Amino acid sequence: LTGGAVAAGGALAGAGALAAARSGDPGVRAAEPVPVAHVGSAVEPFHGARQSGVTTEPQAHAAFVAFTLRPGTDRAALGRMLRLLSDDAARLTQGRPALADTEPELGLLPARLTVTFGFGPGLYTAAGLDDRRPASVADLPALRIDRLQPRWSGGDLLLQICADDPLTVSHAQRVLTKDGRPFATVRWVQQGFRRAAGAEPGRTQRNLFGQLDGTANPKPGAPADTAVWVTDGPDWLRDSTTLVVRRISMNLETWDLLGRADRELAVGRRLDTGAPLTGQAEHDEPDFAALGPDGLTVIPDFSHLTRARVTDDRQKILRRPYNYDGAPTAEGHADSGLVFAAYQADIARQFLPIQRRLAEQDLLNEWTTPIGSAVFAVPPGCPEGGWIGQQLLG
Ligand code: HEM
Repeated sequence: LTGGAVAAGGALAGAGALAAARSGDPGVRAAEPVPVAHVGSAVEPFHGARQSGVTTEPQAHAAFVAFTLRPGTDRAALGRMLRLLSDDAARLTQGRPALADTEPELGLLPARLTVTFGFGPGLYTAAGLDDRRPASVADLPALRIDRLQPRWSGGDLLLQICADDPLTVSHAQRVLTKDGRPFATVRWVQQGFRRAAGAEPGRTQRNLFGQLDGTANPKPGAPADTAVWVTDGPDWLRDSTTLVVRRISMNLETWDLLGRADRELAVGRRLDTGAPLTGQAEHDEPDFAALGPDGLTVIPDFSHLTRARVTDDRQKILRRPYNYDGAPTAEGHADSGLVFAAYQADIARQFLPIQRRLAEQDLLNEWTTPIGSAVFAVPPGCPEGGWIGQQLLG
């Protein structure tokens, strides 16, 4: 079980208590009900200065739902919409059904549900507040590698819905989409998954190329905090962040043709341990200057690792990707990839320089293609009784 607490209905005192009870530890009296840890009742906070679902340890399942605002959804209507959706999210994340929930039983197991709200450029325009849009929240410049499809791109409002249980994600998506209907239409939905909760606790996840993905992410706490969060400015900006969602298809058919050594050279890390090619363990520092017997750098200069590397904490991004795996073609060819989600205080200062370097030269480009792109401001959180967006629109 991860950092989450437990929903009102749950009875978790931690897996340790269960083990202690089983072992006959005298600290646990036999007459007391034995607490049971289960994934379903774990909760993440909804209220707070910052939204959950950003630095929250990634849950196993996600749905990214982007909306287009209907004509006439202005500042006042946005306020009504966000009050409603915030109320739904506040309840469901804490294991309580939404108001007028048509399937209230599905609201009882939050499984660390988080609902993270993102505001696309169009939302600021609809509200007449273009002057408050963070400058970097704008369509990314066209990149050579892009093959973007409108069906995976753009959006005025995003809900990133994550939980350790897919039924919980589904129900939250249904409730929020239904309540959003008077104000917005659904533009796209991208579903994704990682390892099941508890399958490999504390380990870096793997993507569908089999790589350990997430090793060099900034660790929670300062100084990485300032990479993710805006720490000053007016109240509608402070404790906000920004989100880039890229749908990147991964060509498993051509990747299959590569030998193991070439696969490892493309990234600069080993497939089994995730160690850099110059090290032994996953978190060893890569040595970009080390030369092999052929006089070339052991980690290729055009490897993903070399090209993506950032040493200045303020320029790091927090990657929170999910795997996607659609139905294969009749020939059995995969439709797989990443819903690549990256959080950072400022897209222009952090995400863009990395993305430009990768677009220019990255061995991995041979097997990966961006097919969707969207950017959002992730506004600050709200206190109990408040709503997401109140600092901007209230
Ligand atoms: C590192 C895979 C796209 C930025 C890595 C690593 C892998 C990987 C295996 C090494 C382990 C780790 O640190 O997580 C992929 C795949 C992609 C993809 C399969 C596309 C399908 C991107 C994109 C960006 C990005 C679009 C940013 C624009 C990074 C960064 C690192 C990294 C910043 C850490 C580099 C460091 O060691 O400092 N990626 N990646 N990746 N990737 Fe990607």
